[in-house]
Amino acid sequence: MNKLLAVLTQFFWKHVKIYGILLDNLIFGRYKKFKLYNFVFLNYLRKSEKSHLLKEDYLYKLISQISLHFNPNFYAEFSFLKKYFSTGILMLQYPNQFAKYLITLSKYNIKSYLEIGTGLGGSFITTVEYLMKLNPEFQYAIGIDRLHYISMQIYAQFNDRVDYIIMDTRSSAFKEFIRKCPHFDLAFIDSSKSYEECLRTFEIIKTNIKMVAFHDILQKEVDAVWNHIKDLYSNEYSLLEFTDQCLKRGQYLGIGLIIKKE
Ligand SMILES: C[S@@+](CC[C@H](N)C(=O)[O-])C[C@H]1O[C@@H](n2cnc3c(N)ncnc32)[C@H](O)[C@@H]1O
Repeated sequence: MNKLLAVLTQFFWKHVKIYGILLDNLIFGRYKKFKLYNFVFLNYLRKSEKSHLLKEDYLYKLISQISLHFNPNFYAEFSFLKKYFSTGILMLQYPNQFAKYLITLSKYNIKSYLEIGTGLGGSFITTVEYLMKLNPEFQYAIGIDRLHYISMQIYAQFNDRVDYIIMDTRSSAFKEFIRKCPHFDLAFIDSSKSYEECLRTFEIIKTNIKMVAFHDILQKEVDAVWNHIKDLYSNEYSLLEFTDQCLKRGQYLGIGLIIKKE
């Protein structure tokens, strides 16, 4: 009887929480950066042919449609992307870098994913949806951020294979969480850009994980981390870089991926 009551209570509160979020977004959505209907853009990905998702040009356009965050400095010379700004799930990545990165991931049997520094969820949700679409065996994903983002909370409520945890990588709780955690096939580090913190995060997670991606390898401090990793770990891991640009001048963002050698 007590068990039944506990299950019913849990069911009740889960639904109160979901409908609370929906109501809040309905009333106050217009004042918020992230609107619930932004999720609708995910249908472009869900409805795509699997074979199309492996083509770079197709994926580049798709990522632009579903996830570009408005940042005029990063896209100044790509005016054709303007119509997509801030419509989708708001990812802070270059679509050309991210498309090549995802297509590379598609070659591996990735069943579990950890992202550290999800922000609003743009890169996390895009990666999870892409991996789930291509690999029916995909099992679980965990997103971590030190701040609370409503878009991540909503997504986790509606995707049974996803957990969202609010946690600071500098805390002892983070170390403990990783120690107790199951294995992950892939991790994406996009949290603090300080040299010490980024390297420390990698050192904490590396034993549990087969592939690790770093965002911003062309930006200061993370570039030093990436060089350090290249110097120290090239015997242990294969290294790949995704650094296509959206501007004629300057070098921005960049994704570095390391894959444990068998
Ligand atoms: C650039 S944003 C992430 C963007 C997202 N990955 C994307 O591409 O759409 C960086 C995020 O890292 C989080 N962050 C920074 N330092 C952190 C830390 N020490 N622990 C956990 N999260 C952190 C920030 O709160 C922020 O949301």
